[in-house]
Amino acid sequence: MNRGRFLTFDGGEGSGKTTQAHRLRERLDGAGIEAIVTREPGGTPRAEDIRKLLVSGEAGRWQPLTEALLHYAARTEHIALSIRPALERGVWVISDRFADSTMAYQGIAMDAGRDTVAAVAAAVLGDFAPDLTLVLDVDPETGVGRETREGGEDRYGSMGLEFHRKVRDGFREIAAAEPERCRLIDASGTVDAVGGLIWAATADRFGL
Ligand code: TMP
Repeated sequence: MNRGRFLTFDGGEGSGKTTQAHRLRERLDGAGIEAIVTREPGGTPRAEDIRKLLVSGEAGRWQPLTEALLHYAARTEHIALSIRPALERGVWVISDRFADSTMAYQGIAMDAGRDTVAAVAAAVLGDFAPDLTLVLDVDPETGVGRETREGGEDRYGSMGLEFHRKVRDGFREIAAAEPERCRLIDASGTVDAVGGLIWAATADRFGL
């Protein structure tokens, strides 16, 4: 059986990733491709435990490097227990955020250091990488306002516009550096318009 494909969505707050990840799963289903949607931080019970430490509480509760390592701890669980087994069954996996978020948020916007985050990524991931990353790009002034969060998950939302501008620049830098893997999607339009751009990029990448 063929290994499934690994697709990731990344981008700033309120870029519509979660909605679009589910739409893409439905479109793939319509094309006869079985896919699951999962998310980071999270995606397995233990990784969801770690998520709680990251998304709630005071903005400054962690050293940037601690925070990067917590994201990678959650990711280690997620890859081992959810992503890899699904891919090996031939199922496509759509992850709502993955390693690019750690580079953009902790490595670039928070100053854990690009090189340090890249070294952790190399140690944990080796050559495991998404087949396609959809980077949803939206002005943080629009995005942070769009986001509605429940359960006190507002730690990152509370970090201020300047921070979120750095995150956006970080994602644009990542997308520009890896044009083979990443597609930068203008996420300022309607859900249907953005969904159309995402399907076009996916169909093009995989010849669907
Ligand atoms: P969400 O907005 O997709 O639910 O993700 C929760 C928050 O976690 C979001 O504000 C971005 C942040 N995050 C990081 O800072 N680094 C990471 O590596 C990941 C996966 C998420």
